[in-house]
Amino acid sequence: MKITVVGAGAVGATCADNIARAQLADDLVLLDIKEGLAEGKAQDMMQTATLLGFDTRITGSTNDYAKTAGSNVVVITSGIPRKPGMTREELIGTNAGIVKGVTQNILQYSPDAIIIVISNPMDTMTYLALTSTGLPKNRIIGMGGTLDSARFKYQLSQHLACSPADLNAIVIGGHGDTTMIPLISKATWNSIPVTQFLSAAQQEQIVSDTMVGGATLTKLLGTSAWYAPGAAGAALVESIVRDEKKLFTCCVSLNGEYGQSDICLGVPVVIGKNGWEKILPLELSETEQAMFNKSAEAVRSMNEVLKTL
Ligand code: 2OP
Repeated sequence: MKITVVGAGAVGATCADNIARAQLADDLVLLDIKEGLAEGKAQDMMQTATLLGFDTRITGSTNDYAKTAGSNVVVITSGIPRKPGMTREELIGTNAGIVKGVTQNILQYSPDAIIIVISNPMDTMTYLALTSTGLPKNRIIGMGGTLDSARFKYQLSQHLACSPADLNAIVIGGHGDTTMIPLISKATWNSIPVTQFLSAAQQEQIVSDTMVGGATLTKLLGTSAWYAPGAAGAALVESIVRDEKKLFTCCVSLNGEYGQSDICLGVPVVIGKNGWEKILPLELSETEQAMFNKSAEAVRSMNEVLKTL
């Protein structure tokens, strides 16, 4: 098994670190355009192998895609991150060109790879990766809802004073501060609806704190977060390489599902050896469906921007 992570910044390196620790690959390539960065981080991580007990060979590469040849799974984290006060959408001008180029280079050496997109604005970058390559839709997965759902569970666990592991909760829609939809009506604490334990005000607070989860961290850190985004990317890689068939919310191509087409948006999917294998239906209330439609409208108008670049 060979995995490549493109972008050796904080998110890419954390993702690679998680992949190595979980021994998801024999070969792991970390690639970056910045001279020496990927090689340095790869070497640093390799020096943890005996301490952490993994056998994965990690190789760094400065923009040499030949080193990525034959990758089964590729995680794309390239592009600039948010600065405090910026939305993910503001990154489109710079990141679209980067993601398009990276995807083409990757496919030249790994034509059968499953691609996970983390770069922002993630919904539009996933759509771009799909439409610019013409790859089968199941092989392009946007990592947004996986992270947002983890943040949702964190917020819920703080209010419920419970283990996040006992919670089932998902965020659908776009991966934007105003486009994501934390489905609190469907969230459960080991099958008991969480709404039983939370006042309306608490529910509202949890939903809005989840939606600005990334922005809150960007403000604290001065740049966008990396531990949870990296771990979320690695969790998707794990479900693919171990064919776990786990359910995650991911940004995938919709063709009529949830009433939307010609768009990539976050919905619950099964992730296995073929990429995203199945979209699962959810019974949404009228309000939730309206929110989903509104989210789709916002993402669609961002996708339109691609045509002007
Ligand atoms: C975040 O929400 C990086 O989009 C990512 O932190």
